[in-house]
Amino acid sequence: MKETKFTMNYSFPKNAWYACARDVEVKKELFARKIANEPLVMYRTSDNKVVVLQDACWHRLLPLSKGKLINDQVICGYHGLNYNKEGRCTYMPSQETINPSACVKSYAAVEKHRYIWVWMGDPAEANESKVPDLHWNNDADWAGDGEVIYGKCNYRLILDNLMDLTHETFIHGESIGNDAVAEAPFEVTHTDNSVTVTRWMLDIEPPPFWKGQLGKEGNVDRWQIINFQAPSTITIDVGVALKNTGAFEGDRSQGVNVLF
Ligand code: FES
Repeated sequence: MKETKFTMNYSFPKNAWYACARDVEVKKELFARKIANEPLVMYRTSDNKVVVLQDACWHRLLPLSKGKLINDQVICGYHGLNYNKEGRCTYMPSQETINPSACVKSYAAVEKHRYIWVWMGDPAEANESKVPDLHWNNDADWAGDGEVIYGKCNYRLILDNLMDLTHETFIHGESIGNDAVAEAPFEVTHTDNSVTVTRWMLDIEPPPFWKGQLGKEGNVDRWQIINFQAPSTITIDVGVALKNTGAFEGDRSQGVNVLF
């Protein structure tokens, strides 16, 4: 049988914030990750600031993540060039002068809401106020944590999966899906760089997972509010409350709520 191969040659918007790591992943050591097809090396300085540099030495492109971090400087593991947190070479073994072009790309980075965010485009365009809002991660009223899951596919297929939750009816029918998800009307609104899908399912029988979470008998009002912020951040606000207890009007105190 002929094997079908899927390639991943596609481009990414550059002038955008990407969640490149969870905060706990980046320590005072070199850490590599590819974002938007660009290899990055990240680390924390002695004063705990996050640095993100291109993970390819100016000299022979060895990944800098294979080198060492000493006194907040990255030491290339091939011929020992030193780079500061701005990506500028500060020392070349055996050289009396340093070639002024010896530097690697330095990325604007922000630590916010338990994530490290990197701006892949022009640093002059990076606006911290545009980092997607994931404040629930810092909110004492919310419990939880996260993990990194790799999806071996075009990232837009994952966006598609999360924006269209009607698949719950057919794929997750024994836990969170039932006919109401596929049949309920929904509303879509958008701005220049975001889309929100809102679906309310009123007076429905709860699917098994939600019935267990609520711990009460009876029909429920269920909500799914999905927010996409370009190019790659999605938050999903979902939950159920006993029917006619005010959730639709804004009072979720009689329900259970999950954000992911
Ligand atoms: S490849 Fe980095 S110093 Fe030569």
